[in-house]
Amino acid sequence: MERPADVNYDRNLALELVRVSEAGALAASRWMGRGKKNEADGAAVEAMRLAFNSVAIDGVVVIGEGEMDEAPMLYIGEKVGSGGPAMDIAVDPLEGTTITAKGGPNAMATVALAERGNFLHAPDIYMDKIAVGPGLPPGVVDLDAAVGENLRNLAAAKKIDIGELVLCTLDRDRHAEMIAKAREAGARIMLIGDGDVSGVIMAAQMQSGVDIFVGSGGAPEGVLAAAALRCLGGQMQGRLLFEDAAQVARAISMGVADPKKKYELEEMAKGDVMFAATGVTTGPMLRGVRRFGTGAVTHSLVMRSKSGTVRYVEAHHNFATKTWQPN
Ligand code: FBP
Repeated sequence: MERPADVNYDRNLALELVRVSEAGALAASRWMGRGKKNEADGAAVEAMRLAFNSVAIDGVVVIGEGEMDEAPMLYIGEKVGSGGPAMDIAVDPLEGTTITAKGGPNAMATVALAERGNFLHAPDIYMDKIAVGPGLPPGVVDLDAAVGENLRNLAAAKKIDIGELVLCTLDRDRHAEMIAKAREAGARIMLIGDGDVSGVIMAAQMQSGVDIFVGSGGAPEGVLAAAALRCLGGQMQGRLLFEDAAQVARAISMGVADPKKKYELEEMAKGDVMFAATGVTTGPMLRGVRRFGTGAVTHSLVMRSKSGTVRYVEAHHNFATKTWQPN
């Protein structure tokens, strides 16, 4: 079989992307447990910004650290990369800033790439999200259906009892009613303190034991989760949640045509997508950075929607010989 001309290019880019998330995780890991979430986030941002310099793309940040006047680096609209194909970047340099500050589980550095114009330009507000894994009938769950109905439909599609299902959600008061109804319906609940990108990813990974993610969290995190799900397979819907008219105006200025729209997975992350994440602290999906003075070991996930390959990369970094990455 003949290999398409662009295949190596694509594969190389995916591996460049994992260098970017490794850089973020390594830098953030120095701040693990120090009670300083902004410093941890800042270190990851700076390291990932630097790492982007050697990625051969003409990149524009569409999901990043905020507006130009709020963020010195990786702001929305910032151009990154050393030149090449026109790509959009969604980046959350430290998904789990509070977790990292407290030394808790499941913080990671995340980044995704798509061809220009293929990510939803989501403002930094909340988004309602629902996600399930691959191999299920289209529309098996719906953001507008009651949680009990979604659980019953999911259990029927999986041909299992509702009691076998695990629903993952962020441990927040705003989810109390939904959690009570899900328990009433018979499902088991996995509450996570932070990090709903990995909550969505877990819903698509059989080994995680999670069957469905439901709840509201950051809209930018929703787009990153959608990028990951495009690679893993699965279904996801999201709808922006507005607190005031200023947020609506901001979303419209970012290109959101219908603020009430229920977005399907492909409307949040279209076309060929690449996703990389490196663990900062250990969680169900990734091991955290293990530092040992002269070096560190990182554990990353890198995936491409085109091939569907999910690759775990364990990298052993030697601080004495590493030339450009901050340790
Ligand atoms: P940070 O990395 O900015 O701390 O975000 C963590 C996170 O848990 C996200 O994964 C999630 O989308 C969002 O915060 C939820 O927001 P809130 O803490 O306001 O409920």
